[in-house]
Amino acid sequence: MKHLTLGVICFFTLAVTALSVYATPAKRFDAKTGTCRILNDGPLEWETRPWGEGGRTFKQVCKSCHSRENNQGASFLWEESKTSRGWNNVFARQRARCARDGVWAKLSDDQLLMVNDYLYRWSSDSLDRTDSA
Ligand code: HEC
Repeated sequence: MKHLTLGVICFFTLAVTALSVYATPAKRFDAKTGTCRILNDGPLEWETRPWGEGGRTFKQVCKSCHSRENNQGASFLWEESKTSRGWNNVFARQRARCARDGVWAKLSDDQLLMVNDYLYRWSSDSLDRTDSA
């Protein structure tokens, strides 16, 4: 009986741990600043949601050009256009034409980091995609 109880407790502990680990990418290493960004807890958990700073900035700034059928000559981009690693590369290298043309300069470093965090979190291969939360 004791073993069974321990087994059950162990099972639930593992299940809960697994859920909390897989619900959200826990962190993102930012190559440019050499920092680790915690995405599943604290302020960034909120800011990397669609209504947080990251999500809103992507929508208001990036999507002002990268929407479907825009007249800015920009390709259509959305969260799932790239993998998490792909988005990291976009921001670490900053070689997109708009970045080189200075369009990104109207955003603060902090805002850009949060757009990167947001896209990393909701990318095509992020586990948040399969989680309706
Ligand atoms: C003023 C319009 C404008 C804004 C605002 C803008 N872009 Fe762009 N972007 C362009 C244009 C034009 C290109 C070059 C054409 C292309 O490849 O889409 C481009 C290219 C890119 C590319 C390379 C294309 C690709 O498919 O990989 C990426 C990535 C990108 N932009 C991301 C962003 C992000 C992220 C933001 C917000 C921080 C942003 N852009 C804001 C106009 C814009």
